[in-house]
Amino acid sequence: MSIQHMRIDIITCLPELFDGPMNQSILKRAVQKGHVEIEIHNLRNYSTNKHKTVDDYAYGGGAGMVLMIEPIDRCITQLKEKRKYDELIYMTPDGARLDQRICNQLSVKQNLILLCGHYKGVDERIRKHLITKEISIGDYVLSGGELAAMVLADSLIRLVPGVLNDETSALTDSFQDDLLAPPVYTRPEEYKGWKVPEVLLSGHEEKINNWRHEQSVERTKQRRPDLLNDG
Ligand code: ADE
Repeated sequence: MSIQHMRIDIITCLPELFDGPMNQSILKRAVQKGHVEIEIHNLRNYSTNKHKTVDDYAYGGGAGMVLMIEPIDRCITQLKEKRKYDELIYMTPDGARLDQRICNQLSVKQNLILLCGHYKGVDERIRKHLITKEISIGDYVLSGGELAAMVLADSLIRLVPGVLNDETSALTDSFQDDLLAPPVYTRPEEYKGWKVPEVLLSGHEEKINNWRHEQSVERTKQRRPDLLNDG
């Protein structure tokens, strides 16, 4: 069995934003272990004019600049010449709202392109002719798609087999079975009189599993009843 490998190409006009988050912790280890490859592409490098501009005024007027077709198309075309892409994703507040189900579906893909919009967005023809999926990370507007792309990349990478070890296994995450995760505790057993639930100290695996499941259901009922009613 070959190990799964995911490649994510991110197209942005603010590449510096990715320096920190993509080089930390789990993501960094995933890259070092060879499970994932992330490449950031500076849109400016694909501009053909001498000022290296990537945006222009909107036809019809109105506030805000629009990312031009040409640099984006040139970047995408060069990437597609090298490999086949499963999805070309545009990060945008009017896309499909990201949830764990979408993360699970995308986590088995091999090659993804994430396009970060900026200013007022991208020329609509890019969306119409080049983009295969549009994703929003929530009903609020960010100043660009970069933070959204990082959220998506992080949520996918941790699902690639081998990235997480047993202790951090994604199988017990919130949302993985439409339930929120149960509460967790660590030493000491008692702090300022605040005690760890007895059952967790019992060593009785079945009782502990039952308790965790009950807690998950209870927490979901209280905080996210919509998860129980869906599907
Ligand atoms: N770009 C700006 N806001 C966004 C959002 N909420 N999700 C994805 N991309 C965005």
